Amino acid sequence: MKLVKLIANLGYGSRKEVAWMFREGRVTDSDGEVLYADDKIEHERIRIDGEPLDPASGLVLMMNKPLGATCSRKDQGRVVYDLLPPRYRQRDPALSTVGRLDRDTSGLLLFTDDGALLHRIISPRAEVSKVYEATLAEDLRGGEGELFASGTLMLESETTPLAPAWLEPLGPRRARLTVTEGRYHQVRRMFAATGNRVESLQRVAMGALPLGDDLAPGQWRMLSADDVARVFAETSKH
Ligand code: URA
Repeated sequence: MKLVKLIANLGYGSRKEVAWMFREGRVTDSDGEVLYADDKIEHERIRIDGEPLDPASGLVLMMNKPLGATCSRKDQGRVVYDLLPPRYRQRDPALSTVGRLDRDTSGLLLFTDDGALLHRIISPRAEVSKVYEATLAEDLRGGEGELFASGTLMLESETTPLAPAWLEPLGPRRARLTVTEGRYHQVRRMFAATGNRVESLQRVAMGALPLGDDLAPGQWRMLSADDVARVFAETSKH
């Protein structure tokens, strides 16, 4: 791919703007030598204003989504894309969230520009486990674990029951819940079906990839191929 198109597709500007960046000498190699638009060079050696070029397509990153940000591209309030470099919103192929978390849910959120990977992760057939920790308004009653694991729980206005899910009580009003689907407001609706209410919700893992504690809310990092493999790794659910 020609350099102007490559760099424009990474969101640095329109092709016209990127052509100007070349004329201004802002595009160099790793030794500081000015590059020309028709040069051939490996991606890793390209610098823009002295900074390494963003990763090529096939990008996967994880964010510790903070409370209060929505997963849409544009919304009235704060959106998760506001926490990434602005040019990430202009990438082609587009960078999308892998599923969504509610505005009032925090924790592990993945992004990718790889459509096939995205579908592999969110497809119910892949059964990638999503692990949540919830704080509840009322004490657990004791029958929730059995109900959630039964595979018979039907949420309001749905026509198919939920796949089995696994509950681990962490305290009278705290629980870890592992689900393999991603239905709308699923965890909140599951507890609502038991007469309870979720007061706070955090996603703490996807498959065997934990949120960990190295990312403060709002921070993000690139994932390696090994990290991505962990999303699909078999996890013990109960
Ligand atoms: N379940 C919910 O209710 N909300 C989320 O954000 C994710 C799962």
